[in-house]
Amino acid sequence: MRTKTIDILLGILAGLTLICCTPKDETEKKIDALIGKMTLHEKVGQMNQLSGGAWLTESAAKGEVGSILNCVDPAEINAVQRAAVEESRLGIPILVSRDVIHGFRTMFPLPIGLAATFDPALVEQGAAIAAKEAVSSGVRWTFSPMLDIARDPRWGRVAEGSGEDPYLDAVMGEAMVKGYQSNGLAACVKHFVGYGAAEGGRDYNSTGITERSLRNVYFPAFKKAIDAGAMTLMTSFNDNDGIPSTGNRWLLTDILRDEWGFSGMVVTDWNSSGEMVAHGFAKDLKDATDISINAGVDMDMMSYGFISFVEELVKEGKIKESRIDEAVRNILRLKFDLGLFDNPYVDENGVQAYSAEALAAAEKAATESAILLKNDGVLPLKKGKTVLVTGPLADAPYEQLGTWAFDGEKDHTVTPLSSLRETFDVIYEPGLSFSRDDSSAGIAKARAAASRAEAVVVVVGEEAILSGEAHSLSDLNLQGAQSELISAMKSTGKPVIVVVMAGRPLTIERDLENCGAMLYCFHPGTMGGPAIAKLLGGDEVPSGKTPMTFLHTAGEAPFYYNHNNTGRPNTGTETLLKDIPIEAGQTSLGCVSYYLDSGYGPLFPFGFGLSYTTFEYRNISIDKTRYGTDDTIKIEFDLQNTGDFDATEVAQVYVRDLVGSVARPVKELKRFERVSLKAGETKHISIDLPVEELAFWNVRMEFAVEEGDFQLWVAGNSAEGEPVNFTVE
Ligand code: NOJ
Repeated sequence: MRTKTIDILLGILAGLTLICCTPKDETEKKIDALIGKMTLHEKVGQMNQLSGGAWLTESAAKGEVGSILNCVDPAEINAVQRAAVEESRLGIPILVSRDVIHGFRTMFPLPIGLAATFDPALVEQGAAIAAKEAVSSGVRWTFSPMLDIARDPRWGRVAEGSGEDPYLDAVMGEAMVKGYQSNGLAACVKHFVGYGAAEGGRDYNSTGITERSLRNVYFPAFKKAIDAGAMTLMTSFNDNDGIPSTGNRWLLTDILRDEWGFSGMVVTDWNSSGEMVAHGFAKDLKDATDISINAGVDMDMMSYGFISFVEELVKEGKIKESRIDEAVRNILRLKFDLGLFDNPYVDENGVQAYSAEALAAAEKAATESAILLKNDGVLPLKKGKTVLVTGPLADAPYEQLGTWAFDGEKDHTVTPLSSLRETFDVIYEPGLSFSRDDSSAGIAKARAAASRAEAVVVVVGEEAILSGEAHSLSDLNLQGAQSELISAMKSTGKPVIVVVMAGRPLTIERDLENCGAMLYCFHPGTMGGPAIAKLLGGDEVPSGKTPMTFLHTAGEAPFYYNHNNTGRPNTGTETLLKDIPIEAGQTSLGCVSYYLDSGYGPLFPFGFGLSYTTFEYRNISIDKTRYGTDDTIKIEFDLQNTGDFDATEVAQVYVRDLVGSVARPVKELKRFERVSLKAGETKHISIDLPVEELAFWNVRMEFAVEEGDFQLWVAGNSAEGEPVNFTVE
């Protein structure tokens, strides 16, 4: 007799087989047949997504809900599913969704940390593991990956994306889509579009992105993810140039469907249709519904507008029933492709979490995501030393999971404190009870304890709640008395190692001065503890690189490496406040665009990260000096590990188009490769870059490679290296 588990696995397999093997038109025929039987009310029911579990069984039985979110209890999911499949007139299964953003139970580092690994294969593996765990609980659709380009660390949601670079964002987005969907979890690329460019970094704020910038900077990751098969897309909350995305027909129909050929399903963000009333773009919820559906939205997340007004709007002739059929077709296709019609149920005893494979991959990701920003030689620390561990994040299992860790569990989380105890003789004195604690009593205790230690590890940063949705900040310094704790440790004369765990690049310049080494970890997830302990103890060597520019002060934001030049670029001779005489009078202080108080460059550039070893790039060459637009540039170089540790370097290739029909960025990342080298080893590396990848949306708004002179760099970050010149003709 076959067990229920085997039946369920066969169901999932049938679903996956369907994705690859069923002729498309067979599914389309099934959809046609179903739509032919549906009343308008039932069609609208499919377009309605509600938050909740068992209490939705009545709506499911009436065919008034097509998808639910925020229910992860397999028994509840089965109850809603039973109502939909066994009690509703047409038996259409429910699509169960959840924000599985950086893991389901086993939490991986935040997406911004995953981006810091520059390791798409590992990111794909992590997404596949998250999918396996989520699907085993009955979740079949995740609202991930978030592909919003983020150039402003004040925006709390930088935690959820891949940072500031369009190429890195696209590579990581594609990896996540493939990973999720390989294990039966539909991906949702979001938030379409420009949401990360919120004015002032204030969440939900307006954006003013031009069409050319949308096409050159904000669209590419979405396009790549869609080409990789992303099954769904979510609209964004922001209005761009006055048009909220959820009501933007140009975006959702002209670009997405007509230009890109997207055949997946489009969902709103939470009540983003209804919020068009507050935007002043729709007069009421009915109007908002009309605008959203006619713009190209298929499913309504939580505004209740579709279920309330679509029938009236169709009767009044404002929405064509053919548009409703198209939306329902997109929804039903997704359900067929996921195999939900074959088996809508989940095995209530088959929940999977924290497998050895999952924990190992989460630890590897946490290890690779940590960025070494400074090291005066104190790291790695000799094992067995007596170490004072202090700081509010040293033993905060929930906090190190970061934002969007709904299903992560602190009881399964390993903290730095517990792992450091396995390698060192640890004295623990927290110093501060949480990041915003500004009392001095704990600091005094930690200071006293330091006298008994040979080195101090201070774990500081942000709690999970301080980044993420609706958690923007205007001050990016360490909160509370954390900087005071670090400087108190420095004053003991003991070597000080600072570990930061945060959801964004914080402004840590003053803290850098007070430590011998700093390891920057975006919230590292379930296995952050062992990863950090092994890095500090030298069993692992840091290899993470900054996926966003690090700033001196929050006032510099937005600040990103791939900006256009001004007409007065930096010459390295800028005047700073400290150099200005008290009675300067009205004089010209120079011609460069910079801050008098923080200078020209960032604190750390994009792509930056140290190692315990050093690397040398030699013999960088390209195969020609002149290329046609159909050619491929063959880049070659030798990379040597010139230090004493086996280690991995992320080699990066940047290009600049010197003169364009519109001004082009000073550098753009075009390729990267993680290269592992034994101490002393040299590897010869070849990287191909097709010239067509130098195309951009030009002055005529055409996507083309323009002839002319270019520069190319191969380096360990965006600020280093000598250019190699070539011409495209
Ligand atoms: C609002 C967020 O903006 C979005 O990213 C998320 O997926 C939905 N809520 C659902 O939780």
